[in-house]
Order: sequence, then C-alpha cells, then structure tokens
Amino acid sequence: MHQLVLVLDFGSQYTQLIARRIREQSVYCEIHPYTVAKDPSKVRELVGNMKPIGIVLSGGPSSVYEEGAPTIARELFELGVPVLGICYGAQLTAKLLGGVVNAADKREYGRATVRVKQGGEGVFRTVKTGDELQVWASHGDHVDGLPPGFAHTAESDNCAMSGFANASKKIHCVQFHPEVVHTPRGAELLGNFLFGVCGAAGDWSMASFVEEAVAKVRAQVGSDGRVICGLSGGVDSSVAAALIHRAIGDRLTCIFVDNGVLRKGEREQVAAIFRDHFKVDLRVIDAEDRFLNALADVTDPEKKRKIIGYEFIAVFDEQSKQIANARFLAQGTLYPDVIESVSFKGPSHTIKSHHNVGGLPEKMKLALVEPLRELFKDEVRQLGLELGLPKHMVWRQPFPGPGLAVRCLGNLDRARLDVLRNADAIIEEEIRAAGLYESIWQSFGVLLPVKSVGVMGDARTYEETLAVRAVHSRDGMTADWVQLPYDVLGRISSRVINEVRGINRVVYDITSKPPGTIEWE
Ligand code: XMP
Repeated sequence: MHQLVLVLDFGSQYTQLIARRIREQSVYCEIHPYTVAKDPSKVRELVGNMKPIGIVLSGGPSSVYEEGAPTIARELFELGVPVLGICYGAQLTAKLLGGVVNAADKREYGRATVRVKQGGEGVFRTVKTGDELQVWASHGDHVDGLPPGFAHTAESDNCAMSGFANASKKIHCVQFHPEVVHTPRGAELLGNFLFGVCGAAGDWSMASFVEEAVAKVRAQVGSDGRVICGLSGGVDSSVAAALIHRAIGDRLTCIFVDNGVLRKGEREQVAAIFRDHFKVDLRVIDAEDRFLNALADVTDPEKKRKIIGYEFIAVFDEQSKQIANARFLAQGTLYPDVIESVSFKGPSHTIKSHHNVGGLPEKMKLALVEPLRELFKDEVRQLGLELGLPKHMVWRQPFPGPGLAVRCLGNLDRARLDVLRNADAIIEEEIRAAGLYESIWQSFGVLLPVKSVGVMGDARTYEETLAVRAVHSRDGMTADWVQLPYDVLGRISSRVINEVRGINRVVYDITSKPPGTIEWE
C-alpha cells in the first residue's frame, strides 16, 4: 500500500488542484469535506484509520470569524501529523491555535510578491532567506497576530503574515495559493512540505496503481463473477475495460452499441482495439435502425436526449440478459464525480439533461465495479497508456452520449448524419495535422438546416451549412472559443466543400460558454 495525504476541503475552487499537484509528485492524496474533522473523537478515529502522513487544509470562501464558518476540531493539530494550511486553512489554523484573524484593509487578489523571512526549512526549505517569490493570492482577511509558538516565515506588501509556521509541531501555513500555476514555484513549495516535512516516499505510480487496482477488481468480483461493461469508445470506459480485462480476462464482456450517431470509424476502431488486439469478448450491437427510427422527426434537443438514453438502457438490458451469471457492471466513474466536495453554491438550473448510463445499475440489479474512482482524467490517460491502449484513443476529445444527434440540427436522417460524419472527420484530421488536437477540449462540426446559394465550377449550388466549433475548457462548465489559425480554418473549409456533397458553406462559431453552450443542442 502507498502513503496517503489527506486534503480537507473548505470549499475552495482550487481544492482539486491541490490534490493534482500532490499526486503529480507521486504522493497519493484524497479530498474529504472538512466536516469529517469537525468532531474531536471523529478526528482521532479518522487519523487512526487513514494514517495520513500529512494533512492539507484548503482555502475557502468564508471568513473564520463569521458565525457558522466552517471549522474543525483543534485536536487535529495535536496528533503529531504535519499540517499545511492554505489561505482559509492558514487563517483557521491561526484562529484555532490562539492567533488573531481580521478583515484586511488592503485585500490581496491576484499576483503578489512574497519575501521569505525564514528560508531553508518547512515549505521554504529550498528557498533562501530574503528571496522573493511570485505567488497568487486571493483573500480579504489576514492574520494579525500569530498563535503562541509560531514563527513568521514570509511577508508581502499587502499581507504581513504571508507565511507562518510552528516547525517543531510541523504546522506550516501560507496565505497564498501554491497549488495554482500562477505561483510558479508552488509545486516546489508543496514538495517541500510533502518530502521535507511529511517524509513522503513518493510511492504512488501508475504501475503500482495497476497492480493494486487489478487485485481490488479480483477481490470484488471473486473467482467466478462476470462483469459487463458498456464501451462507448471514450477514454473512461475504454480504460476501465482494459483494466478489468487485465484482472479477470474473459470473464469480462463488453457491449458496444452502435446507435447510428457515432463519429466516423468509431465502431471499427473499438472492434480493432478490443476484439482484435486485446481479445476481449466484445459484442457490437448494430442498433442504428432502432435509434434512428425512434428519433425520426424529433427535433427537440431534450427529447432527443431522453430517447437516446431510454433506448440505450433498453438495448443494454436486452443484451446483458444473454450473458449468463453477470452480476457486475463496470463504469468509468472518475474521482471528480466521487468527491463529496463542500458546495457553497446554490442550486443550479438544469441547462441540459446529460445522458449517461446512470439508470442502469438499479434497473439491472447489478453491483458496480468502478476501478477509476480514485483517478483524475489525466491520470486515467496515463493509466490507459500503461495498459497498452493506443495514444489516439487515450487522448480522444470528449464526445457527448447523444453523439451526432445533438450536432445535426433539423431532420435526423441517415443521409444528413453521413454528411456531418464526413465533415466532422475532416475537421478532426486537420486539427490533428496542425498538432492542435490534444490542446483543445473539443473541436467538431455541427450541421445546420440552413441552405444558401453557392457556385461550384459554373454551376449554382443550394446546400446546407457546416458550423465549425472548437473550444478550450477545463471541465466543460465554462469554455472559450479557440482562436484557430486562419490557415487551419481555410483548409477545413475548402476540404469540406470539395469533399463533402451537401455542404456549400462553412462558418466558424465564435461563442464562448457562457453565454453559449459547447454543443448547439
Ligand atoms: P454543453 O453543451 O452543456 O456541454 O456546454 C458541456 C460538455 O458536456 C458534453 N455534453 C454531454 N455529455 N451527455 C454527455 O455525456 C450529454 O447529453 C451531453 N451534452 C453535452 C459536451 O460535449 C461538453 O463536453
């Protein structure tokens, strides 16, 4: 087993980044809401059970002196486990241990310069006393008086107490955010805490993860259990399938449903990799007619999603009944879906009802196998490569469950879907050829039921329009349109018009999210 660092979340938008920066340094960590440490007896139990080598207290949007502000039991600091307090975590540490926290006259948001007053130890182990560090800060409160036993380790123009520590108790605090990239030496400072203060061994690697995960799947499924896995061709289900296959071989059956709204060559690619290369028991279900019949004449985006979700579950259910003794269903659930993060946000509106296979487990009475529950997306990609999946599959851009159905506006017939599929494939080829594919969140085509007049050769054309969409995003929640080079846009446009019958005009979508959404429907 590997060492563990515990990150307690106080609702900071950067909490997941803390975990990422720690794991990048080969140290395993988990995020838990601060509420797990609210109660003194629970804290002892938690630390006794998890045996963390260190605890990180995240930032958060509250003020420690406010009524009802998130807090933890003071006992946490008395268990001999090193603690790193970041921003709100630093203020809370100060308050709980007898320091003073107030609203600051001069708030500190964005870039700041910190002067290190005590280098050579703690988080500043690799920094010299007197050196200046560029950091990213975001706080309106600050620490006015240090708790007894604490030393002042860093300061900035707008914040006297940028850093403070009690080295003998291994408690270190910074008022800025070492986890964000705008703190250029942030990862190094976190590393100083992990390796210098906590004594981390750096024992978390993908190779060791594979071994552990394989053993866990074997233990869960037993010596005769069978697992079914819905393969979509996307990264998560592909990596989950490859991992489970490594654990239980032919007791895994994968079901790939061709719903008629997939990207070009997707079905063939999945078959080539899983059936031919990995020798997985793969059932490819040709359900194109069934889906397209159900979708005929449907133009309402929400209805499309519901129909596709419903049909998918029906097809999957029918197929899985034919697999004797299947008791488990594999899902590619990732860590960000699992983290029970502290949410300070109000209820959000449903903008689109995203289709996934969430309804399956209850309906089918299957137990879930979720071997990626502990991983972030980029770790899943690393794992995929480790398991031997090809790079182009592991780095595939996300593709929505309802597929081309929400990118083909207007009538959903085979002919128009083919037009879109071919145009979309050209966009992918050109974006890949320009070396941009992996740095873009999503790039794709949308077929619009808008006909316009054109001229090709000497002939008049009257055909539909393709919108090219390319966005940068971190999680799909917000997005910026990509400033694609004109020559790439030019090549896409001329290839689509020359090679795809049915499109005579190409436009580029320059809407960010918000106010737009990434998909057109
Ligand atoms: P929107 O269009 O809401 O999309 O800005 C945000 C991200 O979610 C993807 N998306 C979906 N994924 N089922 C999915 O599995 C869906 O119904 C669905 N709708 C949108 C979209 O591709 C983008 O990455």
